[in-house]
Amino acid sequence: MAKPRVLVTRRWPAAVEARLAEAFDVRLNTADKPLAPEDFRAAMRDYDAILPTVTDKLGAPALDIDKPQVRILANYGVGYSHIDLDSVGRHGIVVTNTPDVLSECTADLAMTLLLMVARRAGEGERELRAGQWTGWRPTHLVGTKVSGKTLGIIGYGRIGQEMARRAHHGFGMKILAYNRSPVAPEVLAQCQATQVASIDELLPQCDFVSLHCPGGAANRHLINSRRLGLMRPDAFLINTARGEVIDEMALSHALWFESIGGAALDVFDGEPNINPALRDSDRLVMLPHLGSATREAREAMGFRVLDNLEDFFAGRAPRDRVN
Ligand code: DGY
Repeated sequence: MAKPRVLVTRRWPAAVEARLAEAFDVRLNTADKPLAPEDFRAAMRDYDAILPTVTDKLGAPALDIDKPQVRILANYGVGYSHIDLDSVGRHGIVVTNTPDVLSECTADLAMTLLLMVARRAGEGERELRAGQWTGWRPTHLVGTKVSGKTLGIIGYGRIGQEMARRAHHGFGMKILAYNRSPVAPEVLAQCQATQVASIDELLPQCDFVSLHCPGGAANRHLINSRRLGLMRPDAFLINTARGEVIDEMALSHALWFESIGGAALDVFDGEPNINPALRDSDRLVMLPHLGSATREAREAMGFRVLDNLEDFFAGRAPRDRVN
């Protein structure tokens, strides 16, 4: 029997590409250029599976074709707000993602951002590299102590819980959690976390707020100017979820008028373009979407896609089906 035809939309770790090439009739994107909507529409006619990722915007323009050949979009990444599930569902296409395997590394990066913004690490590195460091002094780049402070986590799923573990067990932080559905008491107990009823209740109580909810239309501008106004003037906002969750203009105003202490972002609305209003704030740390960027996580994400594909083409239910 002919092997299923599979298109990989970006360069993947070499070990995973090699395994994919053994198992499937695979086309790799060796140039690592994102596909345009018209390339995507053509691929929908030619392949049995497409393996997209966050840089593929799979809305109506990319999905508007009759009778696609594609039966599964096996996404490389846990977030799938770049895929229009309604359009995909109309074609009966299965969508899978890669949860679990990147939770620890993404939480590590959220903690990195939290520490960087609290301890002014970005400012310090910029100063030193610019040759402007004049030496130690008691008043130089004085930041904010992290240990023992209160961390609010919005979205208490797998990554949110890993963040809580690091903050509570590593830094003795008190954890407040907001989650759409109730969190099991034994899960909260692992970090002595308290679940609060609303985001509005959480924000005024926190020294740090870290976002771990999904992106997409439902959570667009969840953190807007009204909610930024509920944060303490010395509190910090961390985002490793999706850029659209924060209203970036409102954030830039909050930073400019110092109505919050600072922010640290790994994700941006419309990335890789960065809203110019964000660029000049010294109290903002920015990283280029590195949450899952470790060799271990990126390989595990690829092998998780492979598991989903193998199950699907063997007639079994893929474990990470999301639609
Ligand atoms: C994820 O897994 O969702 C990462 O943000 C990369 O897309």
